[in-house]
Amino acid sequence: MCGIIGYAGPRKALPLVIQGLRLLEYRGYDSAGVALGGSGSIRVFKKEGKLANLEAVLPASSAAKCGIGHTRWATHGAVSDANAHPHLGPAGKVALVHNGIVDNWAELKRELEAAGAAFASETDSEILAHLVERELSRLGPSCPRSGAIEAVAAALGRVSGTYGLACVFADFPGLIVGARNGSPLAVGVGEGECFIASDPAAFAAHTRQAVFLRDGELAAIDAKGWQTRTLRGEAVLRGAETIPEAAGLADKGAHPDFFLKEVYEQPQAVERTLGGRLVREYGNAKLGGIELSPREMHGISEVVFLGMGTALHAAMSGKALVEAWARVPARAEDASEFRAANPIVDPAALYVAVSQSGETADTLAAVREVQAKGGRVVGLVNSVGSSLARLCGAGVYLHAGQELSVAASKSYLAQVTGCALIALSLGRARHLSIGEGRRVVDELVALPAKIDEALSLRPRVEELAARIASPGRPAPSVLFLGRGFLYPAALEGALKLKELSYLHAEGFAGGALKHGPLALVGPETPTIALIAPGASYERTLSNIAEVRARRGPVIAVCPGAPEGLREEVDELFALPPCMEELAPVLELVPLQLLARSVASALGRDVDRPRNLAKSVTTE
Ligand code: M6R
Repeated sequence: MCGIIGYAGPRKALPLVIQGLRLLEYRGYDSAGVALGGSGSIRVFKKEGKLANLEAVLPASSAAKCGIGHTRWATHGAVSDANAHPHLGPAGKVALVHNGIVDNWAELKRELEAAGAAFASETDSEILAHLVERELSRLGPSCPRSGAIEAVAAALGRVSGTYGLACVFADFPGLIVGARNGSPLAVGVGEGECFIASDPAAFAAHTRQAVFLRDGELAAIDAKGWQTRTLRGEAVLRGAETIPEAAGLADKGAHPDFFLKEVYEQPQAVERTLGGRLVREYGNAKLGGIELSPREMHGISEVVFLGMGTALHAAMSGKALVEAWARVPARAEDASEFRAANPIVDPAALYVAVSQSGETADTLAAVREVQAKGGRVVGLVNSVGSSLARLCGAGVYLHAGQELSVAASKSYLAQVTGCALIALSLGRARHLSIGEGRRVVDELVALPAKIDEALSLRPRVEELAARIASPGRPAPSVLFLGRGFLYPAALEGALKLKELSYLHAEGFAGGALKHGPLALVGPETPTIALIAPGASYERTLSNIAEVRARRGPVIAVCPGAPEGLREEVDELFALPPCMEELAPVLELVPLQLLARSVASALGRDVDRPRNLAKSVTTE
């Protein structure tokens, strides 16, 4: 979850490293630090809190031409200056930044302590710096530059766990050695300079040539170039790839935060997900990246969607859509639980990995598990060139655009839309008539304009938010209720509210109400009821009546404002009419606005909620 950036070349390293850290801060923002490699010594600066805290303690300028930086999301050891990276070895000969978890840290620490080592932090990462330095001293003072690579390889030979790491050395000015096992790392190859980063976006403004390391590989970079090898010493001959153009530091425009900006970008995001993929004549979707013939689609035994968090909620919508339109058995699996349970993989099934970042460790691990057992996986991914996109090798890019706010918004709408495209193309190969297919196409085409219309609910949503966030007496909890296609949307609405506002929120299926959640209902606890004309309408109305009978205020969100609904609820947010199956896309819009307004009324950092990070790259 942490961000790593390194630079080696003729330019001053410090501003480049800080620029990279700014682009990586979304990965973690507990603390940040830099190490500047020099002749004979290394200077380290690190500070708890956001990057601005680090910048306040940095020298005005530094002549160092080689440096590494890190932005941390704490896994091991509290959030503090001491636990911030980089970590120095005991003699100050190496400084190291690390993303990942050392599983055998306790054993290694005991061993090092028995040999007299003292640690300055509580982190597992500092152990790595000690190990590298111990290997360097074994090689002796006259060890050549290649010895630094040997030392890192030998140290990592002792380690089990995950790492993306980078080191600078006091005695090898201008050299950075990086390594990867389970956490992403890429080398940026410029003209007479090189970069290393956990996300190539951190160096894309300087070079678009990147070499992506694979697990068990190391890279050494300096101003002259780069070399890669495996931990065992075999050479890796892999050329650089061209990565997408630098997105740069996005601008919030007129919006107070990226979250709101991204919510307002949703009509365009969904339009791009659909772009060129709908074939109205045949009532079908054309998904070039999946490359399955209708006959192959017909042979699919089951569709299994995999994802985490918001992506899991989109995956649940995918399951419902596939079953409705294609009549193929489908399920959505929490990627972390799935891979931990020794899954039974069916080679005739289609596995769909859903992810915004394409870097979520659990989703990547689940995909590897499916592939190892002979399963076929496609990605539904936003981030072009991400680890997941490369691992799947086939799939559908969402093209939702860069999402910087930690809480997902436009990526969710794009993911559900992407799932709808997969369900439509499978449906047309199996069960759906051309007429039904055309109706779905027409509904999908109309979605962006309807999302735009839904955004106009904002002033009323803000009034509701002010009541929920009432000063001194915020609602103790907010309940989100939905059935069928709207059950995953209820979960997503609750997740948005809790992660942005830190209020307790719970999403549940309408059918579950009487099995427990009803106990939470009372005059202080609002229930947001997601409802849409269709199969579940009447039963959701019954749930609304049950809540109101217990004096629980009900706010309904519904496309099309069916007759009589207004009288059944305390407040109604009416959306443009749309088919029941696509209601989750539209209904999320006011829920996102609500979460954001409650958070802002409570003074929360909307873009960077406490304890979270944009990409969860550790399991
Ligand atoms: O990048 P991914 O879509 O794989 O991320 C999955 C989750 O970590 C992510 O959706 C998370 O739940 C968001 N913070 C939700 O807003």
